[in-house]
Amino acid sequence: MTTLRTAAAVAAAIAALGLTAAAANPTVENAIHARQAQMDLHAFNLGILGAMAQGKAPYDAATAQAAADNLVLLSGLSATLHWLPGSDNATAADTRALPAIWANLADFAAKYAAFGDGARAMQAAAGGGLDAVKAAMGGLGGACGACHQTYRAPE
Ligand code: HEC
Repeated sequence: MTTLRTAAAVAAAIAALGLTAAAANPTVENAIHARQAQMDLHAFNLGILGAMAQGKAPYDAATAQAAADNLVLLSGLSATLHWLPGSDNATAADTRALPAIWANLADFAAKYAAFGDGARAMQAAAGGGLDAVKAAMGGLGGACGACHQTYRAPE
């Protein structure tokens, strides 16, 4: 009885959140969507810092700090849930993730960790002025690029 009531409450909560049954039960398709959403957040926050570094937006310490803080948070997301076996571009649709990821998981994890290092370096620099942001940009952007070069198919 309690279990039934709990199950009903969980179902109601999930419905209230607007989650479909599919979203509540992770599939390859959902994992692909989730990691692409994470990547979009990477690009959004890196773009804010990049625009400042390139002089396309005025430097603002609080904005730079918030973007860098977000990147650090994103780098802490577990990769295991979003990179399900069978979600590579040779097996699944609508993804550019190369099968090489799953053949070289330790290296993929190292490149993900390097992104975290770059994000933390930017977090330490972001509030310290435009020159500090520019100096941290190469390492951070380079960490994105190093992984894309090896593990992301061209568009
Ligand atoms: C450890 C590897 C790795 C790192 C680090 C990484 N990416 Fe990615 N990124 C990928 C892979 C693999 C894909 C393809 C994912 C897919 O299509 O399923 C991708 C896809 C993307 C996409 C396309 C998303 C979409 O909607 O299809 C963007 C934008 C992106 N990355 C930006 C970034 C930025 C910016 C950074 C650094 C701040 C970054 N990524 C760091 C591996 C990485």
